[in-house]
Amino acid sequence: MYQPVHLSDDIYYVGVNDRRTELFENIWPLPRGVAYNSYLINDEKVALIDTIEIGQVEKFLKKIHAIIGDKTIDYLIINHMEPDHAGAVSIIRELYPQIRIVGNKKTLPMVEGFFGINDNIIEVKEGDELDLGKHRLQFYMAPMVHWPETMVTYEASRKILFSADAFGSFGTLDGGIFDDEMDFSYFADEMRRYYSNIVGKYGSPVQKALEKLKGLSVSTIASAHGPVIRSHINEVIDLYDRWSRFDTDEGVVIAFASMYGNTEEMVEVTARALAEEGIKEIRIYDVSKTHSSFIISDIFKYKGVVLASPTYNSKLHPNMEALVNKLLHMGVKNHYLGILGSFTWAGTATKQLKEFGESLNWEIVGQPVEEKHALKKQKYDECRILGKNLAEKLISERK
Ligand SMILES: Cc1cc2nc3c(=O)[nH]c(=O)nc-3n(C[C@H](O)[C@H](O)[C@H](O)COP(=O)(O)O)c2cc1C
Ligand SMILES: [Fe+2]
Ligand SMILES: [Fe+2]
Repeated sequence: MYQPVHLSDDIYYVGVNDRRTELFENIWPLPRGVAYNSYLINDEKVALIDTIEIGQVEKFLKKIHAIIGDKTIDYLIINHMEPDHAGAVSIIRELYPQIRIVGNKKTLPMVEGFFGINDNIIEVKEGDELDLGKHRLQFYMAPMVHWPETMVTYEASRKILFSADAFGSFGTLDGGIFDDEMDFSYFADEMRRYYSNIVGKYGSPVQKALEKLKGLSVSTIASAHGPVIRSHINEVIDLYDRWSRFDTDEGVVIAFASMYGNTEEMVEVTARALAEEGIKEIRIYDVSKTHSSFIISDIFKYKGVVLASPTYNSKLHPNMEALVNKLLHMGVKNHYLGILGSFTWAGTATKQLKEFGESLNWEIVGQPVEEKHALKKQKYDECRILGKNLAEKLISERK
């Protein structure tokens, strides 16, 4: 019943869309859903590369059956053990009891720990090959892109890289599965959001993986999420290279918390000064309204950041605290930081934001501005100076 989707003659896409889950990893919003991609090679030996999240298993099994009928699957290659990909490992093994699970030495204890499976296992090392008949698979370790056991699988005759989470994006595949079948710009933001939210902490492991990739000739990137990429290869590799080096564009993300509008007013004044100085990309987000997922994604895009918070029970506003905690978790690097705050009896917010910036080695621009009660002339002017200083920093780096 399912029309097979070919990556090449006998290599198929068997992934599924999830439009129901609200939060990925129970944290990150999925307004456009997410795709769990899996691939099947129907050669003399049949190999399945990764599975899917368990909630979608029925569709997944039907797709496999539509391709191989009653044949068995000989190998299950596990590139990544996170349950959005390994969710159907147990069920696949039950349905195909002769299947041999292929993973590396870090995968296998996880397979035993999560599924109690310790037989019919093939352990592979860097550069090992698996012969399927016409196709031969090679394995390359990509530790911490996104978990320690993550590896990628390369099919040399068709130059396909099965890249696990790398080059993945949020968003379902709405008809188009390959990047040339869709308006790919639709996915550009979702790819950065996926990278920044999920893999962003691991910039240097991503750099190492990209180094390895330079030795491979790749014509298709078959990621575990989002479109299969075959016409934007250089573009996405370049994006990954930039993101993993924390390289950013000219622009400013202003994230603020504000209960009654005093802090927000300071934000507006600062933003206006930035614009007057020639900064065109300015994104203002209320942390109580916009999920940190989107704010973090834009922080991976733009070099300038302004954080603004009232003092709340002698601390940061809790929603600002949540944002800065996530940025600390991720170890986000290489930003300019402007700081704004508001208070009524004893302000501590700007001090805490400064400590936050220092702990990530961000360069703090100008002086933090903290106003008591309503915004008045002196602090108004200081907000403008802060905006001007930040704009000058950014503009001085224009290429
Ligand atoms: C729940 C709550 C706790 C607060 N805690 C403090 C505090 O510890 N120290 C202080 O100086 N002001 C405190 N304030 C006052 C706010 O920081 C102050 O009114 C600020 O101007 C509010 O900024 P906003 O208008 O942007 O919400 C608190 C206000 C609220 C509602
Ligand atoms: Fe993952
Ligand atoms: Fe994933």
